[in-house]
Amino acid sequence: MTDTLDPALINSVAAKTIEARKLLERIAADFAPAAFANSLGAEDMVLTDIIVGERIGIEIFSLDTGRLPAETYDLMGRLKRHYGLKLKLYYPRHELIEAYTRDNGINGFYDSVESRKACCHARKVEPLQRALAGKKAWVTGLRAEQAATRSGLALQEFDAANGLEKFNPLAGWSEKEVWAYLHANAVPYNRLHDEGYPSIGCAPCTRAVAPGEHVRSGRWWWEDPTSKECGLHVKRA
Ligand code: ADX
Ligand code: SF4
Repeated sequence: MTDTLDPALINSVAAKTIEARKLLERIAADFAPAAFANSLGAEDMVLTDIIVGERIGIEIFSLDTGRLPAETYDLMGRLKRHYGLKLKLYYPRHELIEAYTRDNGINGFYDSVESRKACCHARKVEPLQRALAGKKAWVTGLRAEQAATRSGLALQEFDAANGLEKFNPLAGWSEKEVWAYLHANAVPYNRLHDEGYPSIGCAPCTRAVAPGEHVRSGRWWWEDPTSKECGLHVKRA
């Protein structure tokens, strides 16, 4: 909490918040209809707070994989109470999940990277494609510092895989800045963050990390760090 009182931190968060708000307003004006993919992680709560608080015309949706932690569903309920937010939820297609579990087993994602990616495809990537259909742009909570695969992340890029603009308003934010924003604005957040989970995805593929460990080391912890993307953010040349 001491960090949140550091004047340099307060100033950088204030300046970056203004930049993020301006960018989000520009997206709403120039790229309508636009949508924000909200995983309900810490970064996405910053964006939710700005979009809802400033009444910015960007739709907010989540991909409910069916395997999210109970704490994430609890946060969805709190968002409704705190902001009156009706989060739009996209679900996997049942026939894809039935085929996946028939061929790979209920927890087949532990067996190989291919099997894990197939699960992520059915539960996240295919629903994302439906969520983005007809949109001119989408917004994410990605930060460059989060992973080797995300270094050099731009504020705006063309998402060739999905055929629309992609905006990452928090690309240049640090983890400290994210938390300073959340505390200063009393933003609701996933209680797993207080139990050692800096990054939260599906329950069977996320675990707590020790202090000082990399923020994404608890995601797909059994895999090599270079393969740890679920397919939502792949780049196509
Ligand atoms: S992941 O690719 O490893 O799962 P991560 O959890 O870091 O992604 O989240 C990065 C961004 O991807 C989030 O800020 C959000 O924009 C989007 N995202 C990830 N998971 C979801 C989800 N379940 N629903 C909506 N957006 C998501
Ligand atoms: Fe499946 Fe795990 Fe990917 Fe969730 S994170 S979609 S459970 S492999």
